Amino acid sequence: MHWNIVRFDTLDSTNLEARRMIQNQSTGQSLHGTVVTAGQQTGGKGRLGRVWESPSGTGLWFTAIIQPQVPMEQASLYSFAAAVSVAEAIRQAADLEVTLKWPNDVLLNGKKLCGILLELIPYSKTEYYIAIGIGINVRQEKEDFPPELQEKAASLAMFSEKAIDQPALLDTILQQLKRTCTQLEAQGFAPLRDQWKAWSAIIGQEVSVQQYGNVLYTGIAEDIAMDGSLLVRTADGLQRVTAADVSLRSKDGTYGF
Ligand code: BTN
Repeated sequence: MHWNIVRFDTLDSTNLEARRMIQNQSTGQSLHGTVVTAGQQTGGKGRLGRVWESPSGTGLWFTAIIQPQVPMEQASLYSFAAAVSVAEAIRQAADLEVTLKWPNDVLLNGKKLCGILLELIPYSKTEYYIAIGIGINVRQEKEDFPPELQEKAASLAMFSEKAIDQPALLDTILQQLKRTCTQLEAQGFAPLRDQWKAWSAIIGQEVSVQQYGNVLYTGIAEDIAMDGSLLVRTADGLQRVTAADVSLRSKDGTYGF
């Protein structure tokens, strides 16, 4: 696969632009490998309908369009490929130890550095693309984040000694993404899952599982199933988590974000 980067100064959302490109594509044209980036997003989208703050020049906001080589039910596994790729690239570019939180957050010092929003976009009865939206906070200082995010969000600048070259970081992430997607397609989920688990902040830890702000249950995050769901051991048995938020229990007994 060859990446083709399309740059914009301002967009509502790189995921929305990717969707528009797919909907307007002409017959015979393939968007596989297209990467949409924006200097700023005015309507950045997060998971579960949330807003993703994406001010001008402070981070990498981009969406990679891929034509998956796996059945549609397995498409969400590409978000693990994306999380592992971002983690690997940041380890290389900034020499920082990042960790992963299910389903696909990348954490730095326990705070959220990067979020991933994967969307399935069908374009015929049988064919579909996935848009992998990735947002990485690069240059913000703590006070640049909205007050409600200041204890939860991190940027590379807050913890890195090195100045970060954003175009070079994007290139490294895309190289890794090519590698992890090829690995997923050729070898299945198992090797990627092992890598994800090795960097996980949550496996073996006590977590609280929440949906729309309500705690569903608490337990020990035990494993990632082969369909990408999280398995949590609770007093009532093993629960399979598919769409929810997971928070880690802190030493003082409270749950973080
Ligand atoms: C999350 O953790 O809630 C996912 C955040 C995803 C943000 C990125 S920024 C680039 C792309 N465009 C969007 O509108 N969202 C994703």
